[in-house]
Amino acid sequence: MMGWRMFQKMSRFQAHYNLPDIASVAVLAQKIAPHLKRGDVLQLEGDLGVGKTTFTRALIAALAGKEIEVPSPTFTLVQQYEFPAFTLYHFDLYRLKNSGELLEIGLEQALSEGVTVLEWPQLATDFLPADSLVLKLSFSSGEGRQAELHAPAAWAPLLS
Ligand SMILES: Nc1ncnc2c1ncn2[C@@H]1O[C@H](COP(=O)(O)OP(=O)(O)O)[C@@H](O)[C@H]1O
Ligand SMILES: [Mg+2]
Repeated sequence: MMGWRMFQKMSRFQAHYNLPDIASVAVLAQKIAPHLKRGDVLQLEGDLGVGKTTFTRALIAALAGKEIEVPSPTFTLVQQYEFPAFTLYHFDLYRLKNSGELLEIGLEQALSEGVTVLEWPQLATDFLPADSLVLKLSFSSGEGRQAELHAPAAWAPLLS
């Protein structure tokens, strides 16, 4: 099992992005969006106000080819968006009380048939696939943000 885990680790890649402004967030979202397919999971990590909803908004705009209203799912916990190839489920688990609620809000269905984007994914980690994309956002010294993307190795050539 140890060897398998190590292989899993080694077969992932990691990239760093400097996101000095919203326009650079859109550029990163436009790189990722065309390669998303049913079953993909994107975990968005980072503190309140770091840009998780902003990134999701840019991702949805890239998929739609135009700006779409993307409210934060802080209170609804999940919002969904229909695209020709899949439904995108945008979760925000910040206000989730326990992992038992994940079924009620449709996580299982999202994982099996959609593209799943999660803010505050920590409560759901046990249920999320090991080949999730994980985008870790952090604050920079100035206005902008830093991003660290962890993804299956197959994504490396797609994002370069
Ligand atoms: N790369 C960035 N550079 C500058 N400001 C950003 C960047 N990303 C997000 N913001 C700003 O940060 C604020 C909070 O973003 P939001 O996406 O709501 O954070 P979160 O969903 O992580 O709580 C918004 O006003 C947004 O415009
Ligand atoms: Mg948010």
